[in-house]
Amino acid sequence: MADHHHHRHEPAHDTDALADMLDLDAEVLRDHLDGLVEWLHERTGGRARRILDLGCGTGTGALALATRFPDAEVTAVDMAEPMLHRVRAKARAHGLDGRIHTRQADLDAGWPALAPMDLVWASASLHHVAEPDRVLADVLATLRPGGVFAVAELEAIPTFLPDDLGVGRPGLEARCHAALREGLSHEVPLLGSDWGPRLARAGFTVEAERVFRIELTPPLPAAAGRYAQACLRRLRTGLDGRLDAQDRDTLDTLLDSDAILSRTDLTVRTTRTVWLAVRP
Ligand SMILES: C[S@@+](CC[C@H](N)C(=O)[O-])C[C@H]1O[C@@H](n2cnc3c(N)ncnc32)[C@H](O)[C@@H]1O
Repeated sequence: MADHHHHRHEPAHDTDALADMLDLDAEVLRDHLDGLVEWLHERTGGRARRILDLGCGTGTGALALATRFPDAEVTAVDMAEPMLHRVRAKARAHGLDGRIHTRQADLDAGWPALAPMDLVWASASLHHVAEPDRVLADVLATLRPGGVFAVAELEAIPTFLPDDLGVGRPGLEARCHAALREGLSHEVPLLGSDWGPRLARAGFTVEAERVFRIELTPPLPAAAGRYAQACLRRLRTGLDGRLDAQDRDTLDTLLDSDAILSRTDLTVRTTRTVWLAVRP
C-alpha cells in the first residue's frame, strides 16, 4: 500500500509494479489488516450489508471485508482497469465473485451512481484525489445515516534497511526518504495530512482515530524481502536528480541485484492512521 509518486495516467508497467507492491503489502501486513477489519466489524456490530471500497487497488480491503462480513455485497471502485482485473481474479479464486463487484470510475471526474452504503473503506486512496472535500461530501451522501466511513492513510512508504548497510555511507534510506518527502510535499500534498478536521467539516462525526506504528523484526516472512525490493524500487523512481552520486550508486547496486531478498537484517517499519467517521 505504501505509495508515492503515483501519477493519474501511469504507464501500464508502473500500474503492474504498483499492483505487485500492493499485493506484497497485503501479504506482509496481513495481521495489521485483519486487526483493522475486526475492529470495523465490532464497531458496526457486523451488520454492514453494503460495503464500498474506494480506490480499491488490487482488492486488499474488498477481499478482507467480504470475508469478515459474509452477508455483505462489496463494490470495489478504482480508476485503473488493470487493478479491477486483479480484484475479479482474486474474488473468483476465493469464491467471492458473487459478492464482490468491480466498478471502474475516476473520482476526479465525478461520483459514480451507487446504492446507499453501510460502510465505506478508503485505504491509501484519498490522498490521490484532486478535490478531497467534494469526494468526502459524496461519501457522506452515499452512506445511509449511521453508516461508517473508515479512512486508512500512511505518511510515507515503509522503511526496511539497517542504518549501516556495510556498503556506502550509513543513513542511506533516511536520506532517500528525506529527499522524497521534499518532492512529495508538492506532488502529493495530501499525503500524511490530518483527515479528522476535514471529515468533521464535511459533516461526519469522527468517532475514533487510531495510529498504528508497525514494526516487524526478523525473522520475517519471505515476502518481506520482495516487499522491500518493490518499495525501494518505487522510492528510487521518485528520487531522480535528488540523490548525490554515491547514494545513487549504492541504491542502484542494491536494487540491480536480488541481494536484498537474502538479507536477514531487514525490518518493516510503517505508520498507518485510521479515522472512523460516522454519518449522523
Ligand atoms: C496506493 S493504492 C491503494 C490501493 C488499496 N486501497 C490498498 O489499500 O491496497 C491507490 C489506488 O487508488 C486509485 N486511485 C487513485 N486516484 C483515483 C481516482 N481519482 N479515482 C479512482 N481511483 C483512484 C489508484 O488507481 C490505486 O489503485
